[in-house]
Amino acid sequence: MKILGISAHYHDSAAALVVDGLPVCAVQEERLSRHKNDAGFPISAVEWCLEHAGIAPADLDAVVFYERSMLKFERILTCALRTFPRSWRSFPNAMKSSLGEKVWVRGIIASYLGVPKKKILFTGHHEAHAAAAFLTAPTRKAAILTADGVGEWASLTAGHGDRRTDGTTDITLLREIRYPHSLGMLYSTFTAYLGFAVNEDEYKVMGLAAYGRPTMVDRVRKLIRRTPDGAFALDMEYFDYYTTAARSYSAKFVELFGRPRQQYEPIDFDTPDGRRFADCAASVQRVLEDTLVDLTRALHEETRLSDLCLGGGVALNGVANARILAESGFARVFVPSAPGDAGCALGAALYADRLYFGNPDRDVPYHPFWGPTVDAQELARAAREDGQTVEELDETSLMERTADALAAGRIVGWMDGASEFGPRALGHRSILAAPHSREMRDRLNRDIKFREEFRPFAPVTPIESADQYFELPPGGAGLGRFMSGVFPVRPEWRDRLAGITHVDGSARLQTLERGMAPRLHALLEMYGRRTGIPVLLNTSFNVAGEPIVNRAVEGYLTFRRCGIDAVVAGPFFVTKNASRKATTLQEGMA
Ligand SMILES: [Fe+2]
Repeated sequence: MKILGISAHYHDSAAALVVDGLPVCAVQEERLSRHKNDAGFPISAVEWCLEHAGIAPADLDAVVFYERSMLKFERILTCALRTFPRSWRSFPNAMKSSLGEKVWVRGIIASYLGVPKKKILFTGHHEAHAAAAFLTAPTRKAAILTADGVGEWASLTAGHGDRRTDGTTDITLLREIRYPHSLGMLYSTFTAYLGFAVNEDEYKVMGLAAYGRPTMVDRVRKLIRRTPDGAFALDMEYFDYYTTAARSYSAKFVELFGRPRQQYEPIDFDTPDGRRFADCAASVQRVLEDTLVDLTRALHEETRLSDLCLGGGVALNGVANARILAESGFARVFVPSAPGDAGCALGAALYADRLYFGNPDRDVPYHPFWGPTVDAQELARAAREDGQTVEELDETSLMERTADALAAGRIVGWMDGASEFGPRALGHRSILAAPHSREMRDRLNRDIKFREEFRPFAPVTPIESADQYFELPPGGAGLGRFMSGVFPVRPEWRDRLAGITHVDGSARLQTLERGMAPRLHALLEMYGRRTGIPVLLNTSFNVAGEPIVNRAVEGYLTFRRCGIDAVVAGPFFVTKNASRKATTLQEGMA
């Protein structure tokens, strides 16, 4: 049975294909269209998935959309009427996007793909999140918690999943918290207040939090009240997001927390405002963590299960995930590589396969590499035509050459195999560098990523070495597989790992198992033999504002445009030709 999953029209569109119960491929539209967070109908992603699998739209048994669009429309309509006349400005906008796209999804899919409408199905948004989390994790029975901004009505669900020995599957969502009450919206409101982009820059709030102290926790708690049933409710007087698309927080919010930060205002921790913004971030981060810990602890007591699967965009918060692992009582916590809305494309397809069609249970391979494969010849061709130095090396020589370059302080663009599904580079589309110095971090921020200096970089290390350098609780390495947890760097190593140690001594670590990305694993070992520490700084292969590179030529162009010293794909090691580099510099200065 061939099932295509689609997520679209809100944020981060994607397509995924499941054939006979197993994922074949999955990709976010942005990686192909090259528009970051592309929310349009993922026509390129769909086309690529079908082409990759060699099937025509007519061969599909079902196309599954990741939310019930009529329910979502009902929510938008109901909220608009409830808050009328305050909402009258936002209502036409919401109508435009909903009526134009979301409500008529069945017709849009049918016309784009030419599949009959009866083959087009819908899952609940949080069912898709839950399936993406549970059905891709190496567990047969687990509690499930999903949390995001909002789906149709739900913003958080709690339940459990069961892959039974008879091959049937069950996912039961026991309860939900409904919009406008939402942990995702609470965090996004602070994201907006702190001058960052909502739905995109939430991780900057987490990074900033480490510079502050949670001095405003009491104030944040005025915004979110715990209810006797163990859930929570937001005090909507502090929020405007449900009445207008233009602003997330209300005048009362500003009264409580002070002047908001402007988008381009620098954050200077030596000024009272800079410290206030950092304290604000630390305070909402703390409240988010505390709430999630309470909710997951209650879920553990209720289910008495040892595994927990987390889904939804909130599961990208690695600091909160680490606290859930340490404090909820669950022995293992799983977060998929794409817990956000893009991952719902895969979740929706798997949900339909197991629960709608009742197909037998299958073990989903536990890796994130479902995207297009890099064409190394394309890199060599582009580099040669451009007059750069291309070395073709056998595998051992290539590893030695790359490890030498990294040990000498060079920055390497690394492309290998199929691209990652989800927002993080996990070893197939990465920029790698030595993790030892702050200077390297600053150089990457300044010359390559063009981003704020308070943002930390993440390390990658073989799973066998992780314990030596990082304080991992039991189960921590599991959370590190897809870089889903933030853990302390061991104090004795912090000076020698200064490039990846955040200001509070932590790091968002990837623990790499050889089987998942064997070439990167081999490179880490080779680098370890040269420097004594098998840890590399690993950041996504892109510059600020662009999606992670997908094709070799995109990696090559990124290498040409910024301070990356070498780029690797297949057997090729490409460096900048000295005379060409001089030309580029002159061009840059002209
Ligand atoms: Fe979502």
